[in-house]
Amino acid sequence: MTGPGGVVVVGAGECGTGAALALREEGYAEPVTLVGGEPGHPYERPPLSKAVLSGAAGLTPLCTPERLADAGVTHLAGVAATALDVRAHELTLADGRVLGYERLLLATGARARPLPGAHVLRSHADAVALRERLVPGTRVGIVGGGFIGLEVAATAAGLGCAVTVVEAAPRLMGRAVPERLAARAAARHTEAGVDVRCGTAVARLEPGRIVLGDGGAVEVDVVVAGIGSAPETALAEAAGIAVENGIVVDGSFATSAPDVFAAGDCCSFPHPLYDDLRLRLESWRAAQEQGAHAARALLGAAEPYAAVPWFWSDQYDLSLQVAGLPAVTTEEVVRVRPDGAELWFGLDAGRLVAVAGIGVGTAVAKDVRIGEMLIARRATPDPAALADPGVALKPLLRAPSARRVRSGAIA
Ligand code: APR
Repeated sequence: MTGPGGVVVVGAGECGTGAALALREEGYAEPVTLVGGEPGHPYERPPLSKAVLSGAAGLTPLCTPERLADAGVTHLAGVAATALDVRAHELTLADGRVLGYERLLLATGARARPLPGAHVLRSHADAVALRERLVPGTRVGIVGGGFIGLEVAATAAGLGCAVTVVEAAPRLMGRAVPERLAARAAARHTEAGVDVRCGTAVARLEPGRIVLGDGGAVEVDVVVAGIGSAPETALAEAAGIAVENGIVVDGSFATSAPDVFAAGDCCSFPHPLYDDLRLRLESWRAAQEQGAHAARALLGAAEPYAAVPWFWSDQYDLSLQVAGLPAVTTEEVVRVRPDGAELWFGLDAGRLVAVAGIGVGTAVAKDVRIGEMLIARRATPDPAALADPGVALKPLLRAPSARRVRSGAIA
C-alpha cells in the first residue's frame, strides 16, 4: 500500500527537518512526510559534545513539536527507510510501510567512523552513554584530535577527568583548521591538563588501555573515538543513484535519479566559488542552508547553491571559526589583534579563499563574518592590510571584486 505522495524527506536532522518546514514556508500545500531513524523529536547536534555531555543542558529541539504539527509535517520517528525504488517513486520503511512520493529529499547525514571498544559521539544516545562514564578522576583516552575529539576533551577535562588525546597526524584539526590556530587550541588543552599526543598512531584497543604504534600504551577507563565520519549513502547506492564521497548532486541538489534530491552531510556538490570543485561539508550551518535551498529546488528553483562554507568549534572559553576553504590556499596572512585573538587569511592568486579565527567567546565572530563576505565577493584584499590589526576589515568590502561569479551547474 502506498501513500501519502507529495514530498518525502529521509532524515530528520538539521537539514531534513529544516527542508520540511521550508517547503511550507515556500507555500507548498501537498503532503510533507519526514522520516527519521532516531526516536523522538528532532534536535540540535552541536550541543551534544558540549552542554549535553557536561550535563549543563538537555536536548535543544530543532523546533517545537507544535511547529511541525502546525506546518502539517508528518514526522515518522524511530523508523529507518530501508529501500528506495526510484522508478516506482516508492520508499520502503523498516516497519513495512511503503510511501509513494512525487519528489524525495535524502538528508541522511553522516555517521561516525566506529572504533570497536570505543564510544563515538554523533547522536543523543551516544552522548547519554558517554556522559554516564565521565565522572571526576576517570581516565579518558580520546582517539582523534579533530573537532569531536577536542570538544569531548574540553568537556571531559571540565568534568574533572584525566584526558589524553591521541592524534595520528603531526598536529590537531589537520582536516579543517590552519596550523597556527590549531597550535593555539593545542596550547589551551595542555593548559587545562589534557595530555595531547600528536603524531601518535593507535595500534589497537585492549581492555583498560590504548596500545600505541610505537609499542607504548595509555592506561584508560574510557575510550572515545573522534576519527571522522562517513556519509550515509547506503539507501541511495542500493537505489542505483550516483555516489562518490557522498551522494552526487548538481548545484541545485538534484541527484542522478529523477525527482530525487540530496542535501546536507550526505551529499557532494559543486561549489561555484571554487571552480565547481566538489565539496562534501559536515557542517551545521551548511545543513541548515542546504535544507532551505533544497526545499526551493524541490519546488522547481534552479539557482545553484553558492554559500561560503563555515564551521565553528567551542573548546573551553575559546571559539574557533573557519569560513571558506583553507585547503585551496597558496598564501597565508596572519593578523594578531591586541586582545589576543588571532585571524588567519588564506589567499589563492591574490583572491581571498578562506578566513579563520580563534579567540575568547565571540571575539572573532565579526571579523570572520566580514572575511566570509569578502570571500563571497571574490575580493583581492591587500595582504598587508589583512595583516595589520590597525586596519579595519569592513572598508575592504568596498573594493571592487576580482572576477564575475561563474555559475555552477554540472551535467
Ligand atoms: N588514530 C588517531 N587519530 C586518528 C585515527 C587513528 N586511528 N584516525 C583518524 N584520526 C584523526 C585524524 O587525523 C583527524 O585529525 O582523527 C581526526 C578526525 O577529525 P575529523 O575528520 O575532523 O572528524 P571528527 O572530529 O570525528 O568529526 C566528525 O563531526 O562535528 C562534526 O565537524 C565535525 O563533521 C565532523 C564530524
